[in-house]
Amino acid sequence: MNSVVVVGTQWGDEGKGKITDFLAKEADAVVRFQGGNNAGHTIVFDDKKYALHLVPSGIFRKDTVNVLANGMVINPKALIEELEMLKSRGINDFKLAISDRAHIVLPYHVQLDGLFEDLKKDNKKVGTTNKGIGPAYNDKSSRIGIRVCDFIDLDVFKDKLQDNLEYYNKLFKLFGKPLIETADVYNEYKEYSNLIKQYVKDTGLLLNNMLEEGKKVLFEGAQGALLCLDHGTYPFVTSSSPTAASVPLSTGISPKYINEILGVTKAYSTRVGSGYFVTEFEDDVAENIRDVGHEYGTTTGRPRRIGWIDTVVLRHTRRISGITGLSVMLLDVLSGIDTLKICVAYKLEGEIIDYVPASISDFERCEPIYIELEGWNEDITTTTSFSDLPVNAQQYLNKISELSNIDLAMFSVGPDRKQTVVLKNMFK
Ligand code: GDP
Ligand code: IMO
Ligand code: MG
Repeated sequence: MNSVVVVGTQWGDEGKGKITDFLAKEADAVVRFQGGNNAGHTIVFDDKKYALHLVPSGIFRKDTVNVLANGMVINPKALIEELEMLKSRGINDFKLAISDRAHIVLPYHVQLDGLFEDLKKDNKKVGTTNKGIGPAYNDKSSRIGIRVCDFIDLDVFKDKLQDNLEYYNKLFKLFGKPLIETADVYNEYKEYSNLIKQYVKDTGLLLNNMLEEGKKVLFEGAQGALLCLDHGTYPFVTSSSPTAASVPLSTGISPKYINEILGVTKAYSTRVGSGYFVTEFEDDVAENIRDVGHEYGTTTGRPRRIGWIDTVVLRHTRRISGITGLSVMLLDVLSGIDTLKICVAYKLEGEIIDYVPASISDFERCEPIYIELEGWNEDITTTTSFSDLPVNAQQYLNKISELSNIDLAMFSVGPDRKQTVVLKNMFK
């Protein structure tokens, strides 16, 4: 198969960056298709750790084209800073392509993100990453967004910037927020425009041509299915669709090219920001998982909330993304826990249900129904095959695969690129 889509099956931070970097060795192109620098993807190899927010996780492979596709919202300042960070760490030799149809995130989007959150009651705040993602997608659907093709034409950029700031400054004035001067933004951002111009292309054309020629393309999702604007736990979601269904629309490739879809899941659950999740728990075991798994946000540093793995969520994600293989991450973090719980269904008002309800008030009343499995004590961080795992860890993985109805394709026993075990080659 010459295309593989990597998607998060939970609430983000499943380890998509690690898996994308791992699979990138076989890929001619790696494509980020949605979201922006709300994402934080961690990659570890050769004793070095990198956090990427906008740049695709194929950037460490010099022959791979790294594409920022049309479905993304790109903060040019953050992108330049990320490229500088990579260069300062010796990553100079890379291929980058930025879609001329992607949208630009500007300082007023970030200020609007904070303002919209401030205006919400405490129990209604989304807990966004405050990177301006929602407001940039708002502008896109309101048809006042500034696209990359506008941004690199400085006259068009200035004109659109002026119109938008005239409009948003009225709002900022009304709510006592600092006004943003067109000249200040223009003078700073025209430098970024000049710097990124060299990478700008019709990436839809580029990717269709590559796929037609039989080249291998890897699509890197950001966030996770439960943060999907359509299929997630609305309104506590992001503003794009992180599912495999989003790939053709968000990249301009034909849907016929979507073959294998790798769902990435943690061996447990985490969530940052607001919003209920059914299997959340707080006790010493949760604390231990947070410590051992370093469960603090890559983008915001916020502690991640901890829960048991939820196979209702995995089945929901399998349906909406058509997942063909599962990669179970951070299995090593569960070593030493006596009893592991797996959520198999929800109880809602006395009734057993097997789906994620659309209504957030129904979702908030769902209680988990668990099965329990015996844990293992061995350190598994040097495991290189399924059969090397303690029997209880094998049983845990088999149970997750059986209950989610997805074949196990990979599992991961540590953050390093090398700590990855492959059971099914997704590119074949
Ligand atoms: P992403 O947003 O899906 O790319 O995931 P993040 O990078 O935000 O969060 C995943 C975290 O888990 C990162 O700190 C990774 O380095 C780490 N990680 C990934 N796989 C493993 C694993 O198998 N074991 C351990 N201990 N850490 C892992
Ligand atoms: P990666 O790609 C985890 C969450 C935020 C918030 C909600 C909306 O690293 O998995 P936004 O800033 O997008 O408007 O915030 O979505 N969120 C993420 N949580 N991982 C991410 O990305 C996230 N991107 C956004 O915490 O609850
Ligand atoms: Mg992350």
